[in-house]
Amino acid sequence: MKLMRDTMKNNKVYYECFGCQMNAFDLEVIKGMMLQDGFRSVSSPAEADVIIVNTCSVREHAETRAIGRLNDLSRHKNVLLAVCGCMAQRMGESILELVPGLSLVAGPDNYNMLPSVIKELLDSGGRYVVADLDSSLTYPLFPQVENKRVSRFLSITRGCENYCSYCIVPYLRGRVRSKMHRQIIDEINMLHDNGAKEVTLLGQNVMAYNSSEIDFIGLLNLILSETEIERIRFLTTHPRDINSGVFELMADNKRVCPHIHLPFQSGSDRILKIMNRGYSRSHYLEIISSARAIKPDLAVTTDIIVGFPSETDDDFNETLDIVEKVGFDSAFTFKYSPRAGTQAFGMEDSVPREVKENRLEILNNAVGSIRKKILERLVGSIDEILLDGTVKKGENHYSKGRTPHFRNVLLENGSFSDGDVVKAVIDRLLNYTLYGKEVRRR
Ligand code: 5AD
Ligand code: SF4
Repeated sequence: MKLMRDTMKNNKVYYECFGCQMNAFDLEVIKGMMLQDGFRSVSSPAEADVIIVNTCSVREHAETRAIGRLNDLSRHKNVLLAVCGCMAQRMGESILELVPGLSLVAGPDNYNMLPSVIKELLDSGGRYVVADLDSSLTYPLFPQVENKRVSRFLSITRGCENYCSYCIVPYLRGRVRSKMHRQIIDEINMLHDNGAKEVTLLGQNVMAYNSSEIDFIGLLNLILSETEIERIRFLTTHPRDINSGVFELMADNKRVCPHIHLPFQSGSDRILKIMNRGYSRSHYLEIISSARAIKPDLAVTTDIIVGFPSETDDDFNETLDIVEKVGFDSAFTFKYSPRAGTQAFGMEDSVPREVKENRLEILNNAVGSIRKKILERLVGSIDEILLDGTVKKGENHYSKGRTPHFRNVLLENGSFSDGDVVKAVIDRLLNYTLYGKEVRRR
């Protein structure tokens, strides 16, 4: 078996990934499966026998970029080009016409068969499309496939059933399913044994987690008691399913990091209703204020869409008002992009492009100036930085890491290693970057 793997021909694979953290995790799954079957990773497309691109469909722009990139990559000679992920699921066979050099299209629930299908296509040629959803499928962790060790992703749910009216995800990733809690505990222990200090639990909506009567809070408690992972994070959450137990856990146990990513999308009740978000602006603000009553220093980040069909200046001003009131550490901001098959696709995309762009710019400025104020207030404070790499700025080298609140900090002058938790004083802010120095122990 070993010999067969080492001598297998055409086994060099180059990978690229578009989209969110879920996609990054899925690419680890794909790499793990390919590795198990004798394929190995290479770092440039020129060396590759196989190229696999994992794609995103959330906005049209992401798809246009992926198609462009696939066509670029298809210029490499004697390469089998494969596309996976949400765009593969959404477009199926029709991508073959847009990317003539493409041999394989596989949706997010079809990765188990990738190695065998790829071997067959390498041997016999041809093209293959598979895009079947399987509402019971979860993927195991492949702990060894990533070089980065300190901070790792782990998907705990797949799929989404919220059906926000603008969003294509429920149609492409299928129904919510939760990974068995015993498996999650084993996988976190495996990551920890491999040097991980931090795990980020992933799902389209992690608070929908439910496996054998264990809900998300139950899962966090199990992770706290049955693993030694130092930091636990999670992404992403929905206001509809928020359980305030999570803020109590943050207050009681510093291993649960005091940060929540809670998309609000729009500050206008009318828009929230037609987005089918299931909450009002006052409910969102209420969640934040009761969370901060429990955990006053909670860091909040969010997602916001501008230019949803029929959004007026007044609606948009209500979005800005939420931004002011909450004080987000950061926000992912998007122009509404109509997606065929969603409910909102039936509504007229009535906000002109220039208006969307203008609102986006105003929004980004507002988010940026609040972010700056939050970061400025941190100068002079002391925090624990979990280091996960190094960066060079000009002539200087820094160790980079994050605070428990998910804020990036660069540390000077240390002989640190990745995975160290360094107590540091934040001494300056430069272009939205915090810099610090180790507080020396006596
Ligand atoms: N247009 C613009 N943004 C979208 N998102 C999801 N669907 C769309 C769309 N059709 C954004 C939402 C979501 C994030 C992942 O992407 O803000 O939270
Ligand atoms: Fe899309 Fe809404 Fe599900 Fe997020 S919660 S993936 S925005 S449908």
